[in-house]
Amino acid sequence: MINSFFLFTLYYYLSLLFYCQMEQSRHSTHKLMITNKSGTSQYISLFQAYSNIGYPVVWEKICLGPENSGKVEWSVNWGLRWETAEVEISPDVKFNSAGEIQVVHPMHREMNSIKVSIENGDFISRKECRPELAYGQLGITTTDFSEKYAKDLQFSICMESKPVYVMKGRPNQTLVINASPKFYIGITEAKVGAKFDISNAKSVADIKFSDANEAECVLDEKLNFIFK
Ligand SMILES: *[C@@H]1O[C@H](CO)[C@@H](O)[C@H](O)[C@H]1NC(C)=O
Ligand SMILES: *[C@@H]1O[C@H](CO)[C@@H](O)[C@H](O)[C@H]1NC(C)=O
Repeated sequence: MINSFFLFTLYYYLSLLFYCQMEQSRHSTHKLMITNKSGTSQYISLFQAYSNIGYPVVWEKICLGPENSGKVEWSVNWGLRWETAEVEISPDVKFNSAGEIQVVHPMHREMNSIKVSIENGDFISRKECRPELAYGQLGITTTDFSEKYAKDLQFSICMESKPVYVMKGRPNQTLVINASPKFYIGITEAKVGAKFDISNAKSVADIKFSDANEAECVLDEKLNFIFK
């Protein structure tokens, strides 16, 4: 007689395997056109905001050409990265991970999480598939290690391999981050990869995309971003 428990187990693992490798065909390309009518030179930065577990970093800085208008184009392509750094990221300090990007694809649900543990005194990381995470979610898991180790641990969510959001790592963490793309624009002196200090930034506005993920705005004399 065929063991139905065995069949069920086989079915379960096969579907898990299939689920974790499944590709979703949604690739979203975003386009943003900015015209500078401010009359002065400005540093225009793109960033993202999530919850209160970390902080945004300047993801892209726009240099406008001689005609004072410029275009940025990007596709939503997520990753996770970690590093240990003795300095807190600030508007003057860039997140500068030496670590390899952990390619996670919440849009593909293939390797949507990373797990960091300690082995022989060093941090090591593994990519994971967590089938319980919904479309567009990223996971971070850390094992039990002392606070001493965790002191300098940082994670960053990356888009097109560049950090867009940074958070502190702690032991025994199971984080789920909704990486649904919501983009903001603002004026800041901070470098790409450095903390975007929203309270010290000017003209922060959310980018209003059309259904085709395109947006067009003008920076006016009062330093307001006016979207079409
Ligand atoms: C913005 O426009 C002004 C002139 O309107 C120009 O002097 C300035 O350089 C421009 N800024 C950038 C970042 O291109
Ligand atoms: C992590 O969790 C384990 C088991 O619950 C606990 O014994 C340990 O103290 C925790 N470690 C830290 C640093 O919180």
